Amino acid sequence: MKITFSEVKTTPQRADALVFGVSEDKAFSPQLQALDKKTGGLIRRGLEASRFTGKKGQYLSVILPESAGVARVVLAGLGAWKDFSALAAESVGGGLVPQLNAAGAHAAAFIVEPGKQAPIDAATAAAHIGFGALLRSYRFDKYKTKQKPESKPSFAALNVIGANSKAAAALFARLKPVAEGIFFTRDLVTEPANVIDPETLADACRQLADLGVDVEVLGEEEMHALGMNALLGVGQGSAKESQLVIMRWPGADKKGKSAAPLAIVGKGVTFDTGGISIKPASGMEEMKWDMGGAGTVIGLMRALALRKAKVNVVGVAGLVENMPGGNAQRPGDVVKSMSGQTIEVLNTDAEGRLVLADALWYTQERFKPRLVIDLATLTGAIIISLGTSRAGLFCNDDELADQLFAAGKETGDEVWRMPLGEVYDKQIDSQIADMQNIGQEREAGSITAAQFLKRFIKDGTPWAHLDIAGTAWSKKDRDTCPKGATAFGVRLLDALIAEHYEA
Ligand code: BES
Ligand code: MN
Ligand code: ZN
Repeated sequence: MKITFSEVKTTPQRADALVFGVSEDKAFSPQLQALDKKTGGLIRRGLEASRFTGKKGQYLSVILPESAGVARVVLAGLGAWKDFSALAAESVGGGLVPQLNAAGAHAAAFIVEPGKQAPIDAATAAAHIGFGALLRSYRFDKYKTKQKPESKPSFAALNVIGANSKAAAALFARLKPVAEGIFFTRDLVTEPANVIDPETLADACRQLADLGVDVEVLGEEEMHALGMNALLGVGQGSAKESQLVIMRWPGADKKGKSAAPLAIVGKGVTFDTGGISIKPASGMEEMKWDMGGAGTVIGLMRALALRKAKVNVVGVAGLVENMPGGNAQRPGDVVKSMSGQTIEVLNTDAEGRLVLADALWYTQERFKPRLVIDLATLTGAIIISLGTSRAGLFCNDDELADQLFAAGKETGDEVWRMPLGEVYDKQIDSQIADMQNIGQEREAGSITAAQFLKRFIKDGTPWAHLDIAGTAWSKKDRDTCPKGATAFGVRLLDALIAEHYEA
């Protein structure tokens, strides 16, 4: 999707649809009024003859006579002007994409004239309408060899027209790298597990070197030497070699060059069969996206490098495949983690925490980071608690938790804070080892998982864990994301870093 910005006065680019926002007062902006007049009131008549009320998410298409010079006008419902935020603008831009594809339109011009009550100016509205359309235009169709022309998208170019288009283009230039990071994440998460395994996912990380990211990959031999037996135990049933990828973006300026980095750590289980504690067949295919946490870390590193973020960040991805097999880990096995703590593996399907235990410890030992944030499709229980619209946030630091909550509201990658505490921690005490990898009871499964991770966080390190099992994948189309991989967390962490941690 090509997104461009132009000033109101310029001669419009060729478009086969003109789009105007209409709020709940159904008032026409000056330019829409002029066009309506030119067509003898056809647009107003079309509106009156329909159920269009200007509510958010509504679109009304009116075909114009040849004399109008453009085939159709599309009215996009915006809701009330006072609620027209940057995020609302993205929804409007995103929701437009399937409308224009259904219409068979190729190029459209969106004329942006925010009402007086709108909290954002024309340039912000324009940039975010463009960003929303770009995010929604994502497709993953590389394996479709017989696509009918009519099922391919027609809509390929959006020209956003409004006051101060230079400022709009500048705002968009800051958002575009984030979209590229999101698309990289969506691609990796959508790829099947016969294509993306620990070794090929590590190869995908190596591509980031072209952007100035320093990429290192540890194999099983190196991890063995480091004592990472919790992570290695998960991968030992797989024919693929487990990998730990370390991606460093040294973006801080001269003054902060040696500043402690922010560390972002991701669970990268490229396929989770459950291991010997095997999962039921129905729905198991979903476990190709059990590397969603790592996928988000990789896409985030790409976004940060593309926009040359002024901050030191280290991204770490623990990559394993959880398979049953003659050499697989057994329920009841005891492993010694890199931290020296021992773990009784009572359920081989609670594998993500085992991977993260060593990845988190390694990251803190080596980098002494300013803070650690991990992302993981960790528990089915978080889907029961929060559904698919918010990720679970577990945090040992109120300030970091508040920052993440605010960044979530702003970007739409919303999080909800969950508790930690001693009563939950006790649940993972083991009879024969320092801890067990599942709770003694089934209840509070997401919290006991978080407590497990917390045992691998050093005192004094601000840490947040995002359980994205409910949010990494969407079974339904959303305004700014077609159904499938969402790349939840890329925008969230990009905004968190931009707002609080960049020079
Ligand atoms: N990858 C799963 C969690 C998951 C479930 C992610 C559904 C996305 C959708 C994780 O490894 C897992 O299997 N967790 C178990 C833990 C249990 C054995 C304590 C679960 O949630 O059932
Ligand atoms: Mn599992
Ligand atoms: Zn898993």
